Amino acid sequence: MPAVLDSLKTIPSDAILGIMQLFRADEDPNKVDLSVGVYQDESGSTPVLECVKRAEGEVYAAEDTKSYVGIAGNPGFNRGIEEILFGADHPALAGGRAATVQTPGGSGAVSVAGHLIRRAKPDARVWLSDPSWPNHRQLLGLAGVALEHYPYYDRGANRVDFEAMCAAIGTIRPGDSVLIHGCCHNPCGADLTRAQWQTLAELCERHDVVPFIDIAYQGLAEGLEEDAYGVRLMAERLRELVVVASCSKNFGLYRERVGSATVISPDRERSATVASNLSNIARGIYSMPPDHGAAIVARILSDADLGALWARELDEMRERLNGLRRLLAGKLAERGTTTDFSFIANERGMFSFLGISREQVIRLREEFHVYLVESSRINVAGINQRNVDKVADAIAAVLQD
Ligand code: LMR
Repeated sequence: MPAVLDSLKTIPSDAILGIMQLFRADEDPNKVDLSVGVYQDESGSTPVLECVKRAEGEVYAAEDTKSYVGIAGNPGFNRGIEEILFGADHPALAGGRAATVQTPGGSGAVSVAGHLIRRAKPDARVWLSDPSWPNHRQLLGLAGVALEHYPYYDRGANRVDFEAMCAAIGTIRPGDSVLIHGCCHNPCGADLTRAQWQTLAELCERHDVVPFIDIAYQGLAEGLEEDAYGVRLMAERLRELVVVASCSKNFGLYRERVGSATVISPDRERSATVASNLSNIARGIYSMPPDHGAAIVARILSDADLGALWARELDEMRERLNGLRRLLAGKLAERGTTTDFSFIANERGMFSFLGISREQVIRLREEFHVYLVESSRINVAGINQRNVDKVADAIAAVLQD
């Protein structure tokens, strides 16, 4: 008799986290990690932010119980995150139209939102950008949501193909959702302009499409306020909106798993109903989110000095990323590569595509110990003054042969 488990097939390792494992196993002292989306400083480490260290000490000192917090998580965190996303005076908050649950990372938020969409409208489809973060498919697919794709990035021209995107969204059925990256598009780094957000808001309004914004990198493109432009605009213009957010990158809390799912409803009454469903879904998936990271964020956001320190540390990370983009683009230009990589300097956040083949990516890894995701996505945060020439030489070499 075959065992029940015999029906399972081995699953290939994760497209992103699998490369992280390969990197860790490589013993080359000069290896370079441009794979998983984790910020690195000039020394190549991912330090705990100073504001986090301080807040963590205060949380630890004040903590007098490990009893449960609750299904929706830390209320101070939820309120603080709503204010960062929408701005404290946003009419959607004042009107009681926002319902937020703290989630295990941005991934947990995508999952909760997917389940909510499925429950509210079982035949609704969620449209993902082509390309998108690979785990969107997995998280939403496991939530039972049907997925479609809209064109987003023109790989030849290295820019957003906004016309094609709008043409596709114009054909979407009313009640479907379109998942949009709020800023720092993962994986391509090409963001929407303000004018494009406005066009998109009109389009969603006209076609009764529900925007579903994933903002996992707020503060790492142009600034904390600037990066929320699309979220705030959509919350003003649309009756319904889903926003999922993460504190992994902008608070550097990766392993603590801190995120949020917010739904904007047409009115206060419907928002209360949505809140009850968000809690019920969270209870059914993981019962309650972990507290530690969210308590740290809540502490930072409720203390003016810690908040100001966080803003400074976030500015520093963003400026470093944008500087690295210019540095790498310049180094590649010096090598006279046939590809013009100047687009890297104009894109935002951690990621850009090199636009090279899978074979060239594997060569970079095996021959030069430079690790990136097989789609050719690089994490520019892995570049530093010591490795930039090695990286540029390696890219130029694989492009040449
Ligand atoms: C990434 O895209 O590299 C990060 O968001 C990490 C992850 O979980 O995939």
